[in-house]
Amino acid sequence: MVDIKALVDVENGTQSRRIFWERDIYELELERIFARCWLFLTHESQIPNYGDFFVTKMGEDEVVVIRQKDGSIGAFLNQCRHRGMKLCMAEAGNARAFSCAYHGWAYGVDGTLKSVPCEKESYGPDFDKAQWGLHPVAKVESYKGFIFGCMDAAAPSLVDYLGDAAWYMDIWAGVPGGIEFLGPPSRSIIRSNWKSPPENFIGDSYHVGWTHAGVLKAMTGEVMPQLAFASKDAGFQVTTRYGHGHGINWGPGPILMSPNCPDLFEWTERRGVEMEAIVGEKASKLYSRHWDGTLFPNCSYLIGTYVFKAWHPIGPDKVEIMTWAFAEKDMSDDLKHRIKVAAHRVFGPAGILESDDIDNFEYIALPNQGHVTRQGKMNLQMGMGREREEADYPGVIGDFLSEHGQRGLYRSWADCMSSANWAELEAKTASWKQDLLRKKKV
Ligand code: FES
Ligand SMILES: [Fe+2]
Repeated sequence: MVDIKALVDVENGTQSRRIFWERDIYELELERIFARCWLFLTHESQIPNYGDFFVTKMGEDEVVVIRQKDGSIGAFLNQCRHRGMKLCMAEAGNARAFSCAYHGWAYGVDGTLKSVPCEKESYGPDFDKAQWGLHPVAKVESYKGFIFGCMDAAAPSLVDYLGDAAWYMDIWAGVPGGIEFLGPPSRSIIRSNWKSPPENFIGDSYHVGWTHAGVLKAMTGEVMPQLAFASKDAGFQVTTRYGHGHGINWGPGPILMSPNCPDLFEWTERRGVEMEAIVGEKASKLYSRHWDGTLFPNCSYLIGTYVFKAWHPIGPDKVEIMTWAFAEKDMSDDLKHRIKVAAHRVFGPAGILESDDIDNFEYIALPNQGHVTRQGKMNLQMGMGREREEADYPGVIGDFLSEHGQRGLYRSWADCMSSANWAELEAKTASWKQDLLRKKKV
């Protein structure tokens, strides 16, 4: 039995290193996090037409996400119901049917079993194909074009799961014309635990001026001191009920895109003014700023850098990374192309900033093969006790230079891992905000 309280100490902001290495903890994560939470599947712009499909993962379960004839979206385990062969071998495409390479059972895009070779002769008249359709993902919903799936039918709706994070998402994803993902994702595999990347993207402003010092100097010509983010004017972090979080920096959003896309500064300033009528004055002021963010458990993005990522675990010590560049649909084809090149140049598999980060992620995981090392704790205490509510922004707010968002991610990890089902999880998190704000006074 895994003792969750011994692994993540929410009160004191520490975690055991064991959660980055041990197989029994990982197996419980697959059950209580990946088979329970809403997970990002793909964006609607990746499958615009009837029969378009995209293959991705929910934890270690591979799924095919397919645009249906009526425009809705279906998602199914990528596995033939006969003797379990992987069904679709492509990463994406368009199909009217999926036939299994082993014996030829064929399924429609709606997951129903359409044909079985030698059916009458071999199975007889009583074989009921309706019982042997593809296993559907229990819930599939879309928010502002972002498609999520959930394996647990008892989960709340996607919008309830996003909670306060939906208010923030409206600002960058609710633009006129919507968002478009630019081509297929790059796919790469690193030797890391799956939690390290989303933990970093949720708000690790601390590492930027240190880990990336060399690259940032080369890109901007200036040294950025770590202290630059300590100012009260630097921005803020936010955490939400189910562990989603953002770091929002008041600096200009497209700063990392400036060599290829200098016109983005003008675009974001102008669009920010237009967004006032859509999301209101206070929210619209965030539009042109630089954000990092993670939706618990495993998708992250950089607003201003036009990068969206999904982190898929492959065992406790490997992660498959999918990286998309995205743009606003209303942008010109020329600007979209330059965004795609620039986004992958910084955060693609060989991106100049990605490479710095992956070294960190890998060397957080690998030392844990040492038994004594693995008994140690990690420290996420920066900015503890400074949690607060702010009238202008939903969620619980913390300092920009802090580990506020990361503590939120591990709070949610502990909530999920210690709950047997959604009813328990919802009861446990019902007073999350008061609990978090109360804690700081103790
Ligand atoms: S395993 Fe798919 S048809 Fe036999
Ligand atoms: Fe980084």
